[in-house]
Amino acid sequence: MDTDTKPRLIVVSNRLPVTINKDSSGEYHFKMSSGGLVSALSGCKKSLTFTWIGWPGFFIPFKDRPLVDRRLMEEYSCQAVYLDDDLADRHYNGFSNSILWPLFHYHPGEMNFDEENWLAYRQANLKFAEAVRAHIRSGDMVWVQDYHLMLLPMLLRNIIENVDKKSRLTRRELNRVTEGMEADLSRGEGSTIKDVKIGFFLHTPILPVRREILLGILYCDLIGFHTYDYARHFLSSCTRILGLPTMPNGVEFEGRLAHVGTFPIGIDPSSFLDNLEKDKVKDRIAELERRFKGVKVIVGVDRLDYIKGVPQKMHALELFLTQHPEWIGKVVLVQLAVPSRQDVEEYQNLRSTVNELVGRINGRFGTVEFMPIHFMHKSLQFDELCALYAVSDVCLVSSTRDGMNLVSYEYVACQQARQGAMILSEFAGAAQSLNGSIIVNPWDAQQVADAIYEAVTMDAETRAENHRKLFKYIKKYSAAFWGTSFVGEMTKIQPGADDKLGK
Ligand code: G6P
Repeated sequence: MDTDTKPRLIVVSNRLPVTINKDSSGEYHFKMSSGGLVSALSGCKKSLTFTWIGWPGFFIPFKDRPLVDRRLMEEYSCQAVYLDDDLADRHYNGFSNSILWPLFHYHPGEMNFDEENWLAYRQANLKFAEAVRAHIRSGDMVWVQDYHLMLLPMLLRNIIENVDKKSRLTRRELNRVTEGMEADLSRGEGSTIKDVKIGFFLHTPILPVRREILLGILYCDLIGFHTYDYARHFLSSCTRILGLPTMPNGVEFEGRLAHVGTFPIGIDPSSFLDNLEKDKVKDRIAELERRFKGVKVIVGVDRLDYIKGVPQKMHALELFLTQHPEWIGKVVLVQLAVPSRQDVEEYQNLRSTVNELVGRINGRFGTVEFMPIHFMHKSLQFDELCALYAVSDVCLVSSTRDGMNLVSYEYVACQQARQGAMILSEFAGAAQSLNGSIIVNPWDAQQVADAIYEAVTMDAETRAENHRKLFKYIKKYSAAFWGTSFVGEMTKIQPGADDKLGK
């Protein structure tokens, strides 16, 4: 299909899908990230023309921006949204990760509300809206991702249709969002942008939140969630907080139907399967197998975030080793904790808690030759990660809340040979899909300890049967399937028509 005739999709996420580094000589290096969203959207690339708009992750001096812009656009079809350090810090650390993240993950204890951070959240959303405005054309689809940008649909709808002129409610809410900001949301004289569809996807669970946030995304044509429960919570929040009429497939708002649907994200299994075929990875697997001979390996791979339940996992291991001393020296937990959001105090506190726990448990059960927990606070190269997944007998995901959790999918993808057991928290979105896992409540240390016992003693036949079910699921519900389903539904929506998603 000719590029010019393909429908255009503008994806907007807080972070760009490209990692940018500046070396000591001042030279910039760009690398495409390998996250879920990137592979998810690769499935739509054939039929759509993409632009991806996002924050580069750190401050880029003005003088370097033309070069960065050119490379991002030419090589990756990306457009950077530049935020100064203070705004980025307040938007990302201050509001998104200190208010919305804990709120959406049922961790109110970790919340720190600050008016200035709320203002920064609104200002950053406005900066993103201005960046989208520079790109948008009639007939485009805009797909906004995640909790950092929940006001963006409202701001965009205003750019497209000047909604503030249409209704009193909207004008009031919009004013509340733009209050105190230098906002220029006009379309410009003579501009006629029409038929733009706006989609939003929330990658986290959801709680009832304040009006502005809910209204912020109701200006979409399609709002997606990973699980049916999250969609249901969102609909009931719209009824309870905004008094709006809802149906199983959407919310009526301002004379339009904001469609709501469930689209569980997945991974690109072939990238893992292909990687495991590389000689280098095979050699590494053999090496690790020799290293862990006679020992059952439990793998944990988490961003070091309080929602991941890493301390809970360690308490459960401690209980397991206390109750089953015959397993001391025969089970190891290899816990990879990927550094994350280290400027936020709660993440620093978590790091100390986990370090202390690792020290205590290793001190208690360790010997000269053996430590029950191998703890790494870093990220691993993809080859090494695949090898680690492949040699592990059990994967333990103990999130206390998690939108989906794709580590569980990645482990299954790498377990064709070993067919290891999966222990999965009931509070991860993935628990609703991954039939074949041992489902646990991570707060119940006894239950998790029992699950560890069940996993390390599970017979080969049961493991094979479980793995067959799990693998079939992750193969079908891949990242590409997620991307194409969402965009497909968005394409089908006729604005104004009372169409049903039929979900
Ligand atoms: C979660 C969020 C994503 C986010 C990712 C990494 O999965 O839902 O939106 O990008 O964590 O977090 P970071 O703060 O490093 O972007």
